[in-house]
Amino acid sequence: MIYLAPVQGITDRIYRNLFPVYFKGVDMAIAPFISSSKKMKPVNNLLREFYPDRNTGIPTIPQIMSSNPDDFTLLANALYDIGCGTVNWNLGCPFPMVVKKGRGAGMLCYPDKVESFLEKTMPAIKPNLSIKLRIGLKYPDEVLQLIPIFNQYPLYELIIHPRTAVQMYEGEVDLDIFEQCLNLSKHRVVYNGDIDSLEKLEMLSKRFGSIKRWMIGRGLLANPFLAEKIKFDTEKPYHEKIKIMKAFHDNLFNEYSKILSGSSHITNKMKEIWTYMGNFFENGEKIRKKINKTHHRDNYVDVVNKVFDELI
Ligand SMILES: Cc1cc2nc3c(=O)[nH]c(=O)nc-3n(C[C@H](O)[C@H](O)[C@H](O)COP(=O)(O)O)c2cc1C
Repeated sequence: MIYLAPVQGITDRIYRNLFPVYFKGVDMAIAPFISSSKKMKPVNNLLREFYPDRNTGIPTIPQIMSSNPDDFTLLANALYDIGCGTVNWNLGCPFPMVVKKGRGAGMLCYPDKVESFLEKTMPAIKPNLSIKLRIGLKYPDEVLQLIPIFNQYPLYELIIHPRTAVQMYEGEVDLDIFEQCLNLSKHRVVYNGDIDSLEKLEMLSKRFGSIKRWMIGRGLLANPFLAEKIKFDTEKPYHEKIKIMKAFHDNLFNEYSKILSGSSHITNKMKEIWTYMGNFFENGEKIRKKINKTHHRDNYVDVVNKVFDELI
């Protein structure tokens, strides 16, 4: 099975709804996190994003970022009541603002806190609980203290990105620690990190024969045909792929235009998408530079149309 990773700012409801219209092979997604802090927006606004009739694309599990069991429980149960049978807990976000508050990856080096969080939430939440985590805040072996704690609870699964938070998204993934996690864990484990080709997945799959679920983030945003390639080992001709990319892009643009008012909002949104999608194209860096210079909607549309015209 292939999961689309949560990427804040990109893999939102609109993206997840449109993706399977154009690309095959992705079975499931975890949504970018929503916070259950005291200052959260009215719960109803958050929940609306997950109403089943508004999520017609990739089947999605919502993700909650929280270090407070009561807040977490409230939100998890509200999500359950609108039809989400499973929720995911974010134990991996590396951003200093989050870590400083002891949330996301900021909790990884405090096994006691993780244990007491689970002790309180597990009996109180109605949905299944899946956890997405890194292997540590500063040190890659911090996770080894957590797995025995996870083993005490009936979790849905663990999604492990084998990097520390200080690594952010760079440097090597630590496959040795990942292997130790696999050996220790009683739960199903999903691998996540740096899959950007069929070859990479085959290499990982050779080493970790028991893994059947793979989560892909940046690799899929850059090459949305990757899941199809992995699953069916088929590939469309380049010019056909470009046409599909254009149709996907245009549809995203139209949908975002409906909800983002103001020229710069929509162009900024699309530029964010191009940060990743640009890597699909051989001259992606050049294309991104051209697009980044646009600030108005019409100008953006002109430039993008020209880019695609030259490619097709
Ligand atoms: C811009 C950005 C935003 C992200 N947002 C989230 C998020 O909201 N929740 C989460 O669990 N992971 C988030 N991640 C991490 C990804 O889900 C994934 O774990 C990471 O990118 C490694 O996988 P990849 O190499 O396949 O991209 C984010 C990553 C990036 C680059």
